[in-house]
Amino acid sequence: MERRVREAADAVADRLRVRAETALILGTGLSGVADAMDLEGGLDYREIPHHPVSTVPSHRGRLLWGHWAGTPLIALQGRFHLYEGYAPAVIAFPIRLLAALGVKTVLLSNAAGGLNPLFEAGDLMVITDHINFTGRNPLVGVNIDAWGPRFPDMTEPYDRRLREMARAAAMEEHIPLREGVYVGVLGPSMETAAETRLLRAAGADAVGMSTVMEVITAVHAGMKVLGVSVITNVNRPDCYEPAPLEKVIQTATAAGPRLMRLFQAVLKSTTQA
Ligand code: 6GU
Repeated sequence: MERRVREAADAVADRLRVRAETALILGTGLSGVADAMDLEGGLDYREIPHHPVSTVPSHRGRLLWGHWAGTPLIALQGRFHLYEGYAPAVIAFPIRLLAALGVKTVLLSNAAGGLNPLFEAGDLMVITDHINFTGRNPLVGVNIDAWGPRFPDMTEPYDRRLREMARAAAMEEHIPLREGVYVGVLGPSMETAAETRLLRAAGADAVGMSTVMEVITAVHAGMKVLGVSVITNVNRPDCYEPAPLEKVIQTATAAGPRLMRLFQAVLKSTTQA
């Protein structure tokens, strides 16, 4: 794995025209967010040695680079999910690639179902913490000490300063912003009403099928993470409605411009800080 990450990083570094310390990871329905940046180049995942390739049509697989809000940036368009059958280490690969390229800060977005009864479809939620209910972990196996510690600290996986910046940026931009705990599940089946009650009782505000593998990998590698969920639907266990994929994608896409303004304002404040 170590060699494969190095070979991928060497291949990307050969082409990369920016020295980016920040990366953007775009979730379901949010890949259009990359259109807002000043693109200077990109590679299909297929062109990157050892890089996994996506199986879902709603996730285009490209590594893009350019500038946004005065910041040199890498954007990953297209993610990998456990429910697709990928091993946790495969999902970790793009994150390790970013680390090898010198990225220090990851801004990550996802589409998630609301569990907090006060949430509504279309809300943005800054992730304050997560619960890994996938039963998987990308760090299982021999630890590569050059990447990070055997037992990485998880007291604050979502960087406090970045969260504060997001809150301030949202105020300035007049973007309503929720905060809460994201629970990551394996999927691909959605929650039953009973599971929804359980997850809510466990302290989660939103549920999704991505993010926790990537965040654990990023924290292990010493990167700072900001995570924002687009609440695409709300699971109300006593008035339970299906959340069809089309609606999830549609709601996430509609929230895209707002999320983009938020990330742009955060980037602006990180460059000023
Ligand atoms: Cl309701 N559940 C899960 N697991 N993932 C989601 C979702 C719900 N809505 C969007 N993504």
